[in-house]
Amino acid sequence: MKVGFIQFEVLFGKKDSNLATIARLMEPESADLWVMPELFNVGYLFNSWDDLASLAEEIPNGETTRFLISLAKKFGTSIVAGIAEQHEGSFFNSAILVDANGFQGKYRKIHLFDEEKFWFTPGDLPFQIWDVGTARIGIMICFDWIFPEAARTLTLRGAEIICHPSNLVLPYCQNAMITRCLENRVFAITANRIGTEEQGERKLTFTGASQIVGTKGEVLYRATTDREEISVVEINPKLAGDKMATPNNHLFNDRRPEMYEQS
Ligand code: ACM
Repeated sequence: MKVGFIQFEVLFGKKDSNLATIARLMEPESADLWVMPELFNVGYLFNSWDDLASLAEEIPNGETTRFLISLAKKFGTSIVAGIAEQHEGSFFNSAILVDANGFQGKYRKIHLFDEEKFWFTPGDLPFQIWDVGTARIGIMICFDWIFPEAARTLTLRGAEIICHPSNLVLPYCQNAMITRCLENRVFAITANRIGTEEQGERKLTFTGASQIVGTKGEVLYRATTDREEISVVEINPKLAGDKMATPNNHLFNDRRPEMYEQS
C-alpha cells in the first residue's frame, strides 16, 4: 500500500489557492491514501468570527469536501484532510475522509490547542475507524498527540494507520509520534505545514518535518522543516497486527488497567 502526505505553506484565507496547490502537488505521484495538514484549506490564525464564519464550511456539503471528492475520484485514492467546519452555529476543527465513492466520514478535534479554544468547540464524536480497502485507518488532529489516550484508543479500536493532519508549532510532536507508534505498533502519517502566520501581535511559525512512522518506531520518511514537499512510502499495514513486543509481551493483553489511575 502506498501512503503519502503533502506539506506546503497554507495561505490564510486563500481557499482557492490552497485547493489548487494540493491538486498540483498530487498530480505527479500516486498513492492509495493521502494525508493533508490541519485546516489545510483556510489557514490557522483566525482574527474574527466573521473570518471564521466566512471560511468554515458545512461537511459534507461544503466546497472543500466536494473538491476533495473530485480529486479522490480523479486519482482513485482516499484523502484525509483537516478543514474548519461549521455546524448549527458552532465551529469545529475537523478532518474528513473521502474516497472515489464520496464522503466517508469526519473527525472533530478532541483536544484543542491554546487559542483554538476561543474559536472552536471541542470534538464531540468518538474516535472512529474506517476501512479504506487496503487498511483500517483512524484520524486524530495535531495536539491530540500529547494525549497518549488518543493514539491508544484508535489502535485499540483497530487502526493500522493513524492519519494525523497537523499545524505544529511546538518542537516535540515528531519525536513523540515515534513513541506513539512504538507503544501501539501502529503506522502514523503526520502531515504538517510550513510557513508563518501573523495577526497583529500574534505570530506562529509551523515546523514542517511531516513524517511517516512505522510500527516499530522507524521514521520511514521525514520532510524538511521549511520546504514544500510530498512524500509517498510503500508500507504493509498488516504489520500493525503484530502486537508482540517480545515473545512474552503483548502490548494490549499485558495492560493492567486495574492498576492505573482512573479519571
Ligand atoms: C496544534 O494542535 N495545531 C498545535
